[in-house]
Amino acid sequence: MAVTIAISGKGGSGKTTLAAMIVRALLERADKGAVLGVDADPNSCLGLTLGVEPVGIVAEIREQARAQTPTNTGMDKVRSVEYGIQQAITEAEGFDLLTMGQPEGPDCYCAVNNLLRRFLDGLGSQYRFVVMDNEAGMEHLSRRTTNNVDVLCIAAEPTSVGAVTAQRIFRLARKLPIAVRQIGVVWSRTDQDRELNGIDILGHIPYDKDVSDASMQGKTVFDLEDDSPALVAARSILEKIMVLNP
Ligand SMILES: Nc1ncnc2c1ncn2[C@@H]1O[C@H](COP(=O)(O)OP(=O)(O)OP(=O)(O)O)[C@@H](O)[C@H]1O
Ligand SMILES: [Mg+2]
Repeated sequence: MAVTIAISGKGGSGKTTLAAMIVRALLERADKGAVLGVDADPNSCLGLTLGVEPVGIVAEIREQARAQTPTNTGMDKVRSVEYGIQQAITEAEGFDLLTMGQPEGPDCYCAVNNLLRRFLDGLGSQYRFVVMDNEAGMEHLSRRTTNNVDVLCIAAEPTSVGAVTAQRIFRLARKLPIAVRQIGVVWSRTDQDRELNGIDILGHIPYDKDVSDASMQGKTVFDLEDDSPALVAARSILEKIMVLNP
């Protein structure tokens, strides 16, 4: 079964950058297995940060399955969603990427959503690592798109607002009936860790001008120098995660 690492946090707290750096750090490891990046933010950015153009978007597949006439059997729907998701997996250099895209309109199509979630849980068996970048805030936890997570990394800026938001996300993740094994905070754009009542601290990512320049110039996480301070910090956060998830 895959080790699933999900990244959560406030808007602009460095989630996508952290997810992309963890993907790169995983690919650098000697014992690397198959890696799947999941862009679960409706405003998809993980592909850009990883330099991958998605071949398909799950939300569109879901729309197609919904549009099927009611005369189709349940089995047809299952097969069409499963087939569609496989089609949406983009093969990149050394890893795969799955892009979820914009959620459907105001109607509830829980049946198809449930199918999708079940299928995503099943996908875990094809990979050794799944790294999921989420939308800002807590909505994704309530909707349970983040299911069966081994490590939930809460990216947070080292401010009072950052700390309060991280605590809220922590409390919600603990309250919901989702299987999250471990939760830890990653402090963003700072040179030091900071205590947070009762929540594990996975580490911190320093402010790194190269990261900021790369995103402004449309470069990817693979363009960062090997010794980029942010990347070095992401590697050590991954080491910590690996010790706890051998
Ligand atoms: N360690 C860092 N040093 C310098 N700049 C950084 C660092 N981490 C992230 N950034 C920059 O901060 C901005 C926001 O980062 P990012 O997109 O990763 O945040 P996010 O939490 O995913 O945002 P959103 O909530 O919009 O999805 C980007 O321009 C990114 O390049
Ligand atoms: Mg993001």
